[in-house]
Amino acid sequence: SAAEKGGYDYFMLKEIAEQPKAVADTLLGRIDAAGSLTLDEVRIPASVLREVDKVVIVACGTAYHAGLIAKYAIEHWTRIPCETELASEFRYRDPILDPRTLVVAISQSGETMDTLMALRHAREQGAKVLAICNTNGSTIPRESDAVLYTHAGPEVAVASTKAFLTQLVACYLVALYLGQVRGTKWGDEILSVIRDLSEIAGEVEEVLETMEPVRELARSLADKNTVLFLGRHVGYPVALEGALKLKELAYMHAEGFAAGELKHGPIALIERDVPVVVVVPSPRGRSVLHDKIVSNIQEIRARGARTIVIAERGDEAVRPYADHLIEIPATPVLLQPLVATVPLQVFACELATARGNEVDQPRNLAKSVTVE
Ligand code: AGP
Repeated sequence: SAAEKGGYDYFMLKEIAEQPKAVADTLLGRIDAAGSLTLDEVRIPASVLREVDKVVIVACGTAYHAGLIAKYAIEHWTRIPCETELASEFRYRDPILDPRTLVVAISQSGETMDTLMALRHAREQGAKVLAICNTNGSTIPRESDAVLYTHAGPEVAVASTKAFLTQLVACYLVALYLGQVRGTKWGDEILSVIRDLSEIAGEVEEVLETMEPVRELARSLADKNTVLFLGRHVGYPVALEGALKLKELAYMHAEGFAAGELKHGPIALIERDVPVVVVVPSPRGRSVLHDKIVSNIQEIRARGARTIVIAERGDEAVRPYADHLIEIPATPVLLQPLVATVPLQVFACELATARGNEVDQPRNLAKSVTVE
């Protein structure tokens, strides 16, 4: 009913708007007065976490994209090797697991069969499993050794939005906590990122307030056949997520690429007027990547593509090559997906509406996939 949708036309719009609160709620009570993380609820003793020598993340769809981003954070802040794998592929390739492996299973519903089978396989091999889940008491957390709940509240729309942002927050918390418990040379950075995380809900809100031009742009592309998405570093999974949202909702051909791969094939797809969304890393910090992606944008624009650029506010270097510039607030490099994904959700939702599609219930899809 309209009341359940809180005055929005679709659950998806309501859930996109709820993201600042979902992010804040997922952080609530997990940072102490001294600015350290308190994840005692996870109930895996620090002594066990210190012994972990490999992290393996398993998940499907959007949750998998959160897991891909987590890999960057975990390896950077903890120096523990981390791999992220599609849950549906995991157990079929005889993965190497032992009691020092920490498997992280990410699932909004907690009922996804592929993810459940992957975690059962991991436990049979003696690995410890930590679930990141949005649904209290669901099967995946019940069968795991430990759980870190996301507090997005119920997500009704089939296309995942607020659950994704909270999965990212939970992944950052796990990465930072592992770093904190084990003590790495990134101690100061960890403390400062925890501080930045507490501000991030406000930044997501800021992005939401500036989305009208994105909606307008989406409507103007309603008759296109293809949209391509490029990103690099943590922007690469963001590109994959932007493409998945568009497939699910707009039923358009959409593909996400690592920008560095362009010259290895995908650039052949670039032709006049193809919309290409580019997620640009911050010009601060890892600026080498920033400069490389700026030259990618120049290359595709020279071939006539219509460039839709998501970049940090004040990034003047991209402006001359952006047919459409979507500005996002500055964040620490690894946290950028929390703000960069939001315009892509709004973009897909508006394109779906413009094409007359059913936003909350896309064809052929179910909210939770309980078969393998
Ligand atoms: C997201 O928009 C999708 N509908 C889908 O990819 C989803 O993320 C996937 O099926 C995993 O679901 P889960 O998080 O409930 O396990």
